[in-house]
Amino acid sequence: DAAQLSVDPAFRIGPVSRRLFGSFVEHMGRCVYGGVYEPAHPTADEHGLRRDVLDLTRELGVSVVRYPGGNFVSGYRWEDGVGPVADRPRRLDLAWKTIETNAFGLDEFMRWARAAGVEPMMAVNLGTRGVQEACDLLEYANHPGGTHFSDLRRRHGAEEPYGIRLWCLGNELDGPWQVGHKTADEYGRLAAETASAMKMIDPSVSLVACGSSNRGMPTFAAWEATVLEHTYEHVDYISAHTYYDPSDGDRPSILASAVDMDAFIREVVATADHVAAKQRHKRRLMVSFDEWNVWYQQRLRADLDRRGWVEAPALIEDTFTATDAVVVGDLLITLLRHADRVGVACQAQLANVIAPIRTIDGGPAWRQSIFHPFALTARYARGTVLRTEPIGPSHDTARHGEVSSVDTVAVHDEETGGLVVFAVNRGGTDIRLDIDLRGLPGLAGAEHLAIDAGTEPDAVNTADDPDRVVPHPRERPSVDAGRSAVRLASASWNLIRYH
Ligand code: AHR
Repeated sequence: DAAQLSVDPAFRIGPVSRRLFGSFVEHMGRCVYGGVYEPAHPTADEHGLRRDVLDLTRELGVSVVRYPGGNFVSGYRWEDGVGPVADRPRRLDLAWKTIETNAFGLDEFMRWARAAGVEPMMAVNLGTRGVQEACDLLEYANHPGGTHFSDLRRRHGAEEPYGIRLWCLGNELDGPWQVGHKTADEYGRLAAETASAMKMIDPSVSLVACGSSNRGMPTFAAWEATVLEHTYEHVDYISAHTYYDPSDGDRPSILASAVDMDAFIREVVATADHVAAKQRHKRRLMVSFDEWNVWYQQRLRADLDRRGWVEAPALIEDTFTATDAVVVGDLLITLLRHADRVGVACQAQLANVIAPIRTIDGGPAWRQSIFHPFALTARYARGTVLRTEPIGPSHDTARHGEVSSVDTVAVHDEETGGLVVFAVNRGGTDIRLDIDLRGLPGLAGAEHLAIDAGTEPDAVNTADDPDRVVPHPRERPSVDAGRSAVRLASASWNLIRYH
């Protein structure tokens, strides 16, 4: 089989925002405790931060990290997590049936974020709390001093304000599972009031209104429309969340998950633009895709039902396969292709909980299969996203119907002149991809790396065998009279670089 692709610098989608390479640290399972924070770990620094996880976070190329939830935030009192650790209360976390010790809180997170070199993205509790508590938290974080909460921060050792720019107005409040679940009108009103008060404290913040928990929610699209009717003028982003579940073993469908993400983004953008048209706004909102990943979801209920209230239980520590890595690579291609309308994206989560980084308490940390497409995309997708329209074979899937077998995106770095093509073959046979580069004269092939799930689809990385699934170099692509050809193995993710 063969597919064709033309790359032309005239067809620009938009610049690559670094914020597309975000991640997520929630007080859930062992993401915080035993993940980023473990004072007794041999690599821990004087603040209890695991240095091995910090190193892997930097290697992953993460830019923004959302915190502290997730469902957790909808019952969270942020004040519990600041001040002397010995005085912090132990609480019931209803979201994950867990005892929260509050040993780690905002100040520890900010210390971790600085050490990891990432931008914090904070979520406020709009489940059980409201305008006042969100304002108190913003005052603590961003107000310079001379007031109750800003001086409290200074007494806790942070003289300078944290200057947190990105704030989520709650989490998944459309979901019946959410503590403090609301109707779209209830949430929209509360989000608008909270947003307008927060902007009085710090007009430089960017605010994210909650969109739907996933595209399959019965209220999807109606929720976004109603919420934005209340909030449009106050917010900068509308969120989207999605997880793709490989549990049923339908490989062609899971490999084509990006088809669903692509449609989801287009529908959220259309809904936001509808409200803009109706309310006569010139300003267009961006999407914050602040939770996305592969997740073997049926394991969670069993995890929760099986036990009582405990601290930091192992929750949804999914082990990802080579196939899952190809899916993650394709989801990143999709996010890049919407660079003009997706401004923030966070893979959920960073450590242990459906995460690219796994750890053992007191033991090693390692890279899961999905670590690799993320790290390479974050590293090489720099510059401007170019529109590419692959022409080639298609195949049928149970969940997404007929899908194009090849999915691509190209990113042109005007500063270096380099070009990178990210390509996934979602089909079951190898495909030759002919790339027309005549629009970018003078390029030569630099490198072709691939994660190939065709031969060993279920291969995984483990603590004992951490490098079983890694990208492998393929034959260096040649360029002849502006034309190049590469082989995309069946079920593979590919990074093809030219310089
Ligand atoms: O990332 C795990 C959970 O998935 C988050 O807490 C929640 O927002 C989503 O449903």
